[in-house]
Amino acid sequence: MARILAVANQKGGVGKTTTAINLGASLALADQRVLLVDADPQCNLSSGVGLKGRSAPAGDVYDALMCDDIPDPAVYILPTSVSGLSAIPSDRNLAGAEIELVPMLARESRLRRLVSPLRDRFDYILIDCPPSLGLLTLNALVACDAVLIPLHCEYFALEGLADLVGTLKRVRAALNPSLDIDGVLLTMYDERTNLGQQVSRDVRAFFKEKVFRTVIPRNVRLGEAPSHGMPVILYDVKSRGAEAYLALAREVLARNGRAPATPPTPTK
Ligand SMILES: Nc1ncnc2c1ncn2[C@@H]1O[C@H](COP(=O)(O)OP(=O)(O)O)[C@@H](O)[C@H]1O
Ligand SMILES: [Mg+2]
Repeated sequence: MARILAVANQKGGVGKTTTAINLGASLALADQRVLLVDADPQCNLSSGVGLKGRSAPAGDVYDALMCDDIPDPAVYILPTSVSGLSAIPSDRNLAGAEIELVPMLARESRLRRLVSPLRDRFDYILIDCPPSLGLLTLNALVACDAVLIPLHCEYFALEGLADLVGTLKRVRAALNPSLDIDGVLLTMYDERTNLGQQVSRDVRAFFKEKVFRTVIPRNVRLGEAPSHGMPVILYDVKSRGAEAYLALAREVLARNGRAPATPPTPTK
C-alpha cells in the first residue's frame, strides 16, 4: 500500500519540487515503486523529469481533476527515465483548475479520487504542491497521508509556517482526520554561515523530532539537473546533492518502517 506524501510549503523557492523529484528518484533506486504527481501549474516537476509538454493520451493532472468519472487513474501515468519512477505531469492549464474547481462538488477531494485507487500499484506517491495554500494544495492535503515540509535555511524560514500549520489543523478537523506531518526538511543549507546553523536550531526547537536528520546542502548540481530533465542521481550521482537525497530516502524508509531491499547507494 502506497504511502502518499504531499510536499508542501506555501513559500516558493524552498525546494519542494527539487525534493519531490530527487527523493522520488532516490526511493526508486531503493526498489520502491514511486509515482510523482505534479500539482503545480508552474509544472517544474514535469520538466525536471523530462516530461515537459508531455501527457498520457487521457491527459494530465488538469484533465484528471476535471473528469467526473475516471475509469482507471493509471491511464494518466507516464514512465520517466528512472526505472521505477513514474509521473502524472501537468501543463500550465492547471492554473485554471484553482478557479474551475470552486463550483465543483467535493472540490477538495478531486485529487484524492485520482491517487487513492493507485495505492496498490506504488510504494510511494509524492505530490508536488504549488507555492500557495489554495485549492490545489488543499486537494493535495486531503489526498495524502502526511506532509513533507521543505524549509529553506534562511532568516525568514519559519515565517508563514503558522499559516501552514493552521491549514493542516483545519484540514485534519474537517476533511482528512489522519493527516500527519511526515517530516520537516532543511534545504539549501550552507554550513559556512552562522545563519544556517541558527535556523537549523530554531526549526529543531519548534518541530523537534519531526525534523529529518538529513539536511540538504546548497549544491549547484541540484540546480543544474532540472535543466537537463533528469534527477540528480542521473545527472551527477557523486554530487553532494545526490548523496543528500539518497540519505533522505534511507531516512524516510526507516521512519516508515520500510527497510529498502537494496540500499539506495550509488553504484557508479
Ligand atoms: N539544495 C539546493 N541547492 C542549490 N539549488 C537548489 C537546491 N534546492 C533547490 N534549488 C534550486 O532552487 C530553486 C527553487 O527550488 P524548487 O525546488 O523549485 O523550489 P519550490 O518548488 O519550493 O519553488 C530551483 O532553481 C532549484 O533548482
Ligand atoms: Mg516547485
